[in-house]
Amino acid sequence: MKLFLDTAEIRVLRELAETGLIDGVTTNPSLIAKSGRDFLATIAEICELFEGPVSAEVAASDFETMLKEGEKLAAIADHVAVKVPLTREGLRTCAALADKGVMVNVTLCFSVNQALLAAKAGASFISPFVGRLDDQGADGMQLIRDIREVYDNYAFGTEVLAASIRNGAHVRDAALAGADCATIPPNVFADLYQHPLTDKGLEIFARDWAATGQKIL
Ligand code: E4P
Repeated sequence: MKLFLDTAEIRVLRELAETGLIDGVTTNPSLIAKSGRDFLATIAEICELFEGPVSAEVAASDFETMLKEGEKLAAIADHVAVKVPLTREGLRTCAALADKGVMVNVTLCFSVNQALLAAKAGASFISPFVGRLDDQGADGMQLIRDIREVYDNYAFGTEVLAASIRNGAHVRDAALAGADCATIPPNVFADLYQHPLTDKGLEIFARDWAATGQKIL
């Protein structure tokens, strides 16, 4: 499963790029607002840090403007994935951009039927929002499983990008459900390394190694 970071914080992205484990980045208007930085400059900077897809979202809601915005965003770098909302106009924009060879990430997906339409529109990625469904008392991860099944039934090439990830269990379950990618907030990414038995084991090894009085270097 590809691991994307769900943030527009350049300092954090620069730090986590060093792990070598990050396959791409997603942003949205809320994350850009939170960063307090210029949108286009931020996307350009993220594109220099990562070779994988960098999602940048359009702001308009009508086809003509979304298309122009999408073209402008796509011109920043070849690995920009233009994010469009799962609306009629958004999917029209998706199809037009996909026809021009632009990667499109269709966002705000909450149902299998929406995901089916996005695949038909030539989306490179579909972003089902797991956490926001859970917040409503629904089973967000079931949507990932269902979309996986439908996409496999018809061999759609659209990648399932589990979004609105809130914790490590979401990452694990998305991987078990066969999601192609998950986009993860930095704090959740940091948690993926953690296990108390790793810490405990390390403590014991360090103590026993010190008792040998040896050095490797
Ligand atoms: C990413 O593409 C989505 O915009 C993001 O994962 C949404 O996450 P949230 O529901 O925590 O805002």
